[in-house]
Amino acid sequence: MDTGKRAAGERAVEFIKPGMTIGLGTGSTAYFAIKRLGTLVRNGLSIRAVATSVQSELLASEEQIPLIPFSEVEVIDIDIDGADEVDGQLQLIKGGGGALLREKIIAAASREMIVVVDESKVVETLGRFPLPVEIIPFAWELTYKHLVDMGANPKVRHIGNTPFVTDNGNWILDCSFNQIQQAEVLHAALNDIPGIVENGLFIHYATRLIIGYTDGSIKEVT
Ligand code: 5RP
Repeated sequence: MDTGKRAAGERAVEFIKPGMTIGLGTGSTAYFAIKRLGTLVRNGLSIRAVATSVQSELLASEEQIPLIPFSEVEVIDIDIDGADEVDGQLQLIKGGGGALLREKIIAAASREMIVVVDESKVVETLGRFPLPVEIIPFAWELTYKHLVDMGANPKVRHIGNTPFVTDNGNWILDCSFNQIQQAEVLHAALNDIPGIVENGLFIHYATRLIIGYTDGSIKEVT
């Protein structure tokens, strides 16, 4: 079932060289990259890593991947992460797993960002997937209202009856923009709203896209 995700995740790890500092993404596709990297580390590959979520940090620890504090990071050589949507210009929607803020901080500190997806994530135009927006819970109703006024039809992400809380103690509003024609303009407009911490548009970060298919083949786009 996850053949495409596995193929993409495992291929990305082939770009890692000894001595590198690696950003570990979050989600079910990054999972396969972290698992493969763990095998290589236990077989002697020397790298250091930082994680984009508590979930990936735990997985990396289980895999015996050495994690370093951010105070020791000068540059991250390669960040490997998934996406909820990717278009032909390697623009992304991320945050389906709620880790977008840490993911963006790490992507921004990386020389290379390898995005790993299965074929279902590739779109002509971003926007079918609701855009995750991380907000601080304080006065969230006011932030929410800004988004309603923009026509974003925001929905507070819940787990059961309680709002989903990110690793940073914030909430996620999933916003419907349908077709995002000017991602850069929308990105700036969103981050201009007080209360919004970050949004899930990743515009100039991805340097390589690896698409995995159900038959186990892959396609790479740079
Ligand atoms: C988490 C993310 C993930 O990368 C995105 O949701 C894709 O996840 P998956 O590989 O499980 O489909 O942005 O915040």
